Amino acid sequence: MKNRIIFSLLIITCFFACKPSLEKGSADQKLQAKADSLLSQLTLEEKIAMIHARTKFSTGAVPRLGIPSLRMSDGPCGVRMEINLDNFDPIGWGNDDGIYLPALTAVASTWNPELAEETGTILGQETRIRGKHIQLAPGINIHRSPLNGRNWEYMSEDPFLISKLVVPLIQGLQSNGVAACVKHFALNNQETNRCTVNVKADERALREIYLPGFEAAVKEGGALAVMGSYNKFRGQYATYNKHLVQDILKGEWGFKGTVISDWDAAHNTLEAGNDGLDIEMGTERPYDKYFMAKPMFDAVKQGLVSEKSIDDKVRRILYVMLKLNAINEAPFDTTGMRAKLAIPKRCMATRKVAEEAIVLLKNSNNILPLDISKMKSLAVIGANAIAKHSFGGGSTTIEARYEITPLEGLQKKLGNKVKINYTPGYPQTLKSDWQNYDNTLDTISPKMIAEAVEVAKKSDYVIIFGGLNHNFKLEAEGVDRKNMKLPYGQDLLISEVVKANPKTIVVLLCGSPVELGGWFHSVPGLLQNSFLGMEAGNALAEVIFGDVNPSGKLPYTFPKKLADSPDHALGEYPGKDGIIHYNEGLYVGYRYYDSKKVEPMFPFGYGLSYTQFKYSDLTVPKEIIGSSDSVVVHFNIKNTGQYDGKEVAQLYIHEQKCTFERPLKELKGFAKVSLKAGETKTVKITLNKRAFQFYNPAKKAWVAEPGIFDLLVGSSSRDIRLKGETILK
Ligand code: GLC
Repeated sequence: MKNRIIFSLLIITCFFACKPSLEKGSADQKLQAKADSLLSQLTLEEKIAMIHARTKFSTGAVPRLGIPSLRMSDGPCGVRMEINLDNFDPIGWGNDDGIYLPALTAVASTWNPELAEETGTILGQETRIRGKHIQLAPGINIHRSPLNGRNWEYMSEDPFLISKLVVPLIQGLQSNGVAACVKHFALNNQETNRCTVNVKADERALREIYLPGFEAAVKEGGALAVMGSYNKFRGQYATYNKHLVQDILKGEWGFKGTVISDWDAAHNTLEAGNDGLDIEMGTERPYDKYFMAKPMFDAVKQGLVSEKSIDDKVRRILYVMLKLNAINEAPFDTTGMRAKLAIPKRCMATRKVAEEAIVLLKNSNNILPLDISKMKSLAVIGANAIAKHSFGGGSTTIEARYEITPLEGLQKKLGNKVKINYTPGYPQTLKSDWQNYDNTLDTISPKMIAEAVEVAKKSDYVIIFGGLNHNFKLEAEGVDRKNMKLPYGQDLLISEVVKANPKTIVVLLCGSPVELGGWFHSVPGLLQNSFLGMEAGNALAEVIFGDVNPSGKLPYTFPKKLADSPDHALGEYPGKDGIIHYNEGLYVGYRYYDSKKVEPMFPFGYGLSYTQFKYSDLTVPKEIIGSSDSVVVHFNIKNTGQYDGKEVAQLYIHEQKCTFERPLKELKGFAKVSLKAGETKTVKITLNKRAFQFYNPAKKAWVAEPGIFDLLVGSSSRDIRLKGETILK
């Protein structure tokens, strides 16, 4: 009897213990069952209508079954203004001006997963209000070359940092009943020849560098959609690449959502049908002539593509629709829409992200923060002090409710306490066409420089706002920069101004590294940040005048010169005869600079504060077992300065000896800690088993090789403050 009671107790415990997973499983199983039931009622014509575009940003519907047209919209910085049905031009609704978020490089510069989630939540709310099912974001391609025109839209050179930020961002986004579409899957790391370039990368670089962000987005973030990229990979277009889409995404990772092509990225009916593309987007009227429309119907009829394969595509689409509660949804109308967009709470939330995205790169003699009481006049120089960047440079374009420029932010902060003398200093061109080279980039205006020198001479302090913009030859879609230089003669401008007034601070707005001219050595203060969204000017003013202590860290390396960058030094860029070999392999970003001992201008993970932090008392386990998913590392951080602040403590691993080549260090943990002046906190970072593993192509598996690991804790990839050792058994 007693045994029977114990046994039944065990059964009950086991049931309740796994109940959540059963519950979760049964919820998904219920959705899958519903999808199957709807699928069984569809004709082949109706199925085909669902797997391709019916307008520029929507798919075919099956009204008789309550199956809607899937409505999609860009983009990572906010919901794109409403586009015409059949082209990319704005319809001109006039009520779709919404939130303008910081770029994802800015989000990545915060190293703050909570702010990444906040970013996703805001974007998801606005996407829902605009009546879209799928938000074509986030873009998370690796920063491989400093010249990539879309680096600013993505996050980082490091797959771990991307993974830790993309998961909360997608969870925040999808918590609003809309689907994230993580992009561009995969190896779309340049804009030059993006629609045809054939990327050749080895399996370890693929698995350890280019895919982990997508793996996390799908397996942990639960992304409901993935966008296949324009380029080829090992000879087959990525958007229906058997290895990427069938073997890895849908096979190994068990992705249940839908694969959408980038716009007009499909080129072959049979490959699209058999190798995993679910929805062909970006075509034009007449939409039924494209690869996954009538030609796909004919291919099925001829037995070249199985109806089973079409059913899998449609089942995935139905699964996403059911997850979004979109079946039999009420029709969308824009009544009252504008009042719900860009509400103050959301706009102010973008400022929090922007403030933590600002990176302090230099602060000689603590010239920063500036003290209003110590100045009567301030020279504000630079076209980027008054430039608006929300038009975005390609598909990220939005109609921002507002955008506070740096000059406006300073005017608001200083009021009539300080006299601001503004002059543009250089001839910036914000818009240009796609085709011809915009030679204004090389224009130097001696007259504007002379005016800037005069303004600097008569002012107590100087702030120069420079950097890049979304001109189609700088940071925009479809093109890469020609070099890393600051355009429009900014180097000469800064050199002349700092000669006229040594109390000069430079603020660079750019989503990719730029080469710093000789002026760097004489400029005491340097701030860098990507495009900071609608509250940019206010966030910058808060940091410059010390209301906010900067806590951003570079999510990518600033090389001293372009030739030092691994894609140029070791790899190929932009490729030749239609092919590009990623010869640098794993050695992307700091993995290259540190392993090959190339000194960068500023290292990955670098960023100063108005205060200082002291690290101590690192404790690491003496030994660990390879399968352990919770290797805990502790250490203390003390704020030893005068200001409250936030520090991003980074944890890198290095295997001392391994039969496989491994980079000198790899980021495997980080923590952002708030510390009041004088406060000490103990930081705990937990490493999972993947932290010690590398991908073994022969075994087709992630493996850990027993040996001694250095655990390196630091304030940047090159500022290691504590070192510990552990033995992996
Ligand atoms: C573009 C971009 C992609 C965007 C899509 C729709 O070509 O590559 O990021 O979401 O088309 O605009």
